[in-house]
Amino acid sequence: MNQRDTLYINQSGRLIIGGCDAGDLAREFSTPLYVMDEAYIENAAAEMKRALNEVYPDSLIAYASKAFACKAMYGLVSRLGLGADVASGGELYTALSAGFNPKMLYFHGNNKTAPELDEAVKAEIHAVVIDSLDEITALNAAAAAANKKQGVLIRVNPLIEADTHRFIQTACVDSKFGFSIENGAGEAAVKKILAQKNLQFLGIHCHIGSQIFDIEFFTRAVDKMTDFIAALTKSLGVSVRELNMGGGFGVAYTASDTPPAAQEFIRAIAQKLKDCIAQKKIAPPRLIVEPGRSLAAQAGVTLYTVGAVKDIPNVKKYVAVDGGMFENPRYALYNARYEVALALKAHLPAADTVCIAGKCCESGDIIVGETALQKAEKGDLLAVFCTGAYNYSMASNYNRNPIPPVVLCKNGSARYMVKPQTYPDIIARDCDYAPSDKEPLS
Ligand code: LLP
Repeated sequence: MNQRDTLYINQSGRLIIGGCDAGDLAREFSTPLYVMDEAYIENAAAEMKRALNEVYPDSLIAYASKAFACKAMYGLVSRLGLGADVASGGELYTALSAGFNPKMLYFHGNNKTAPELDEAVKAEIHAVVIDSLDEITALNAAAAAANKKQGVLIRVNPLIEADTHRFIQTACVDSKFGFSIENGAGEAAVKKILAQKNLQFLGIHCHIGSQIFDIEFFTRAVDKMTDFIAALTKSLGVSVRELNMGGGFGVAYTASDTPPAAQEFIRAIAQKLKDCIAQKKIAPPRLIVEPGRSLAAQAGVTLYTVGAVKDIPNVKKYVAVDGGMFENPRYALYNARYEVALALKAHLPAADTVCIAGKCCESGDIIVGETALQKAEKGDLLAVFCTGAYNYSMASNYNRNPIPPVVLCKNGSARYMVKPQTYPDIIARDCDYAPSDKEPLS
C-alpha cells in the first residue's frame, strides 16, 4: 500500500481513506464495499494533464472508462476536463446519461453492433475508432441513414509485444484488434474510409496492452505510428489530424511492482512524438492518450468482513471474506496480486501467511493467493488495496451475490457513486416459469 495524505494508517492502526475511517465506512455502508479516494483521481488527472500539456499542448487525456464506469465517475472525469473512451453501447449510454460532452468521446471495440453504431452517430460523438472493414461499411450506412458525417479513427496494430499478461497484450501479430500496418491492411482501411460519403477520416489509434511497465514499448509504438502517418501522407495524400496512443500505463499492485508514474509514460510518448515529427517532417497531429488503470486503480480500496478463518495445519490458512470473484475476478483471470491489511489493526505485525478466499462456490474464488497479514479473526475488517480499476467494472452476480456499492470519499465525507444492489434488483428481470404452449396435451 502506497501511503499518502488521503490513504494512510493512523497511529491506532486504523485505515483512513479520503479522511474517512474504514470502520465508520463499514458500519455506515456495510461490507463488501468499494471505496474510492476522490483526491487521488483529481491529483492523478492533474499530473497527467500537466505532463502532457507541458510537452505537447495540442493534446487530450481520454479516460478509458472500462477501468471503472458509472455515472458519478463520468461526472467526475468530465469535471476534471478529461475526455473518455467508451467501449460499448452501455458505456456510451452511461456517459451520456451523466451529461458527458459527446464531442469528448471515442468509441472503441472490435465488433460494435449495428445499434451501437447508430447510438454513436445519433449522439454525435467525436470519433468512432474503426476496427474492421465490415465496420466501415456499417458505420457509413448508419451515418447516411442519420444524414450525418461521422468522424473516425482507425485502430492499427503496430506489432509491439509488450511484456504483460498475455490476456492483456493487444498488439501481437495474432491480435483480434486493429488493422496490421505491416501487411497493408491499415492503408487499405484508410482508402476505404476515404471513399465513404458519410465518414470523415481523422486519424489513427493504437493500444498496445495493459499493465505495461517499460516506457520503451510506448516510444517504439510512437515510432511505428509516425512512420505510418508519413506513409499515409505520402501514398494517399491524406492528413492525419489525430494520433491516439491508447493507455496501458502500469501501476504498482504490490511493493515489488515499480513502474514509472503515469505522467512519465505520458511525457515520454509526447516527447517521442515531438522528435518523430521533426525527424520525419510530418504535420503535427493532436495527441490523445487513454489511461484507465493509472487513473482509477490506486484510488480504490475494497473493504470486507472476515467471516471464517480455516487453518489446514502445515498446508494453508484461509481467511474467508464476504466478497469474492463476483466483485473482484482478477485473481481468477490473471493471477493478480494485491496488498492487504486488517483495516482496524494495521499497526500490528503482519505475522501470518494466509490466502484470502471469497464466498463463491469454487476453489478458484480467491482474492489474494498468498499474503502476509495481521492475525485475523471472525469479524475483522479486511482492506484490499489498489482495487479501483477493473474490479467493480468486471463484477458479476455469480452465485446471485449482489454487486457491492461504491462510495467516494473526500475530506471526511463519503457518498454513494453506486448504491447497493438488492435481491429484488437481482431478480428484477427474471421471468416466472411458464410451460411452453407447444407442450403436447396429455
Ligand atoms: N484504450 C483502449 C483501447 C483499451 O482497450 C484499454 C484497455 C485502455 C485504453 C486502457 O488501458 P489501461 O490504461 O487501463 O491499462 N481487465 C484487465 C484490463 C483490460 C484492459 C482493456 N483495455 C485487467 O483487469 O487487468
